[in-house]
Amino acid sequence: MPHRPYIVGNWKMNGSRAMLAEARAIDRAAGRYPDVQVALAPPFTLIGALREEVSAMGVGGQDCHAQPKGAHTGDVSAAMLVDTGADFVIVGHSERRKDHAECDDTVQAKADAALATGLGVIVCVGETLDERDAGRAVAVVAGQIAGSMPVGEGSADAVTLGKVAVAYEPVWAIGTGRVAAVADVIEMHAAIRERLIAIYGEAGDKVRILYGGSVNAGNAAELLAADGVGGALVGGASLTADAFLPIIAAAGTGEV
Ligand code: PGA
Repeated sequence: MPHRPYIVGNWKMNGSRAMLAEARAIDRAAGRYPDVQVALAPPFTLIGALREEVSAMGVGGQDCHAQPKGAHTGDVSAAMLVDTGADFVIVGHSERRKDHAECDDTVQAKADAALATGLGVIVCVGETLDERDAGRAVAVVAGQIAGSMPVGEGSADAVTLGKVAVAYEPVWAIGTGRVAAVADVIEMHAAIRERLIAIYGEAGDKVRILYGGSVNAGNAAELLAADGVGGALVGGASLTADAFLPIIAAAGTGEV
């Protein structure tokens, strides 16, 4: 792995203050693996509390609005995420693309807005099962990369600084227990890297490409060792320290 591995937990719409103990335990593990960059994206409601409780890991949002403020009931801006202590944000998760009809343009605007505030960004891409079965997986993901990656003012610098990551998450592998074949992951990550270099030039090499979709203690080591895999975006297995710690351990050389 050319970059420091990046292991990110996505709590989705899960978590209450009672779960802060899990976050503290994950943070302690992160401290024991300084060669792994660990982060958690809890629901908005917990970002501030988590920030107060943890020190070794990053804390991020799961989405942000593209506008800095205004009449957008229920939304949260990138600046608000910064204000509450977040250091990164996930944009374009397939659940957002589906539940909220977010298209590539929207995702790109959000990524640009986030970078403009200084947040790091993880842009999610991934094909559906129908698209894979039709042999269109690489074409679909390439289109998402072309349309969703940040290209606004300052984005090239942010890429150079390593503040931008991509999460390749096949939609059919999310929360299903089905994991993409390692050979398919390697093929897709190489295709994504090619597109990133087409957009950013040499700096495209600085973008970490994470795999996501049913990553767990049993499969993390093999996935993380695969060519071009720079880390993992983990949903279900990030909800408890017991499930998440082995994934952090698989990425690092420290000791749990
Ligand atoms: P999962 O979710 O690990 O529960 O499959 C991954 C994600 O959606 O980021």
